[in-house]
Amino acid sequence: MAVREILEIGHPVLAARAREVEVAAIGSPEVQGWIDDLIDTMRAANGAGIAANQVGIPYRLFTVEVGTDNPRYPYKPPIPLTVLVNPEMTFLSDETFENWEGCLSVPGLRGAVSRHLEVSVSGHDRDGVHRTFDVRGYSAATFQHEYDHLDGILFPHRVADPRTFCSWSSFAAFRQEAFADRVRQLVDRWGA
Ligand code: NI
Repeated sequence: MAVREILEIGHPVLAARAREVEVAAIGSPEVQGWIDDLIDTMRAANGAGIAANQVGIPYRLFTVEVGTDNPRYPYKPPIPLTVLVNPEMTFLSDETFENWEGCLSVPGLRGAVSRHLEVSVSGHDRDGVHRTFDVRGYSAATFQHEYDHLDGILFPHRVADPRTFCSWSSFAAFRQEAFADRVRQLVDRWGA
């Protein structure tokens, strides 16, 4: 287990489509070690999630976890630790919302991205069991963000209005209070 270096925007591994993991290999020490490293790195960086290619592993897996006191995203509702290998995602409705995103691979920058509010997610967990579940509400954006990484897509690629780009300190000073209210409304409606 190790905290790995997080690659930053511009690195070719982040821009490429990650490869499928052989399902029979999920239980191998190599893939289990990748999963442990992703969890350690995500937690050390206070990320809400991390994709394998962010730490230079060019395969399709990511982890997501949000505790009750994440300093990067204090308004985010909790998400239990989730490991997904070879994830797939479908949108369950056309309804979207504007999410202010950040990324461990895009230091210092935030921007507004349109995300779906209802998604179905499937993939293998770290025991190799195939799971399918729905994610509704604010947390749906976190899964879409991590899934995008595996296709080489970073949040700035999805920012429709470049004027929304802002630093983390500007976000905290000018945007966070109103956005946290909006997130609370979503959590009240969807429970997540
Ligand atoms: Ni990211």
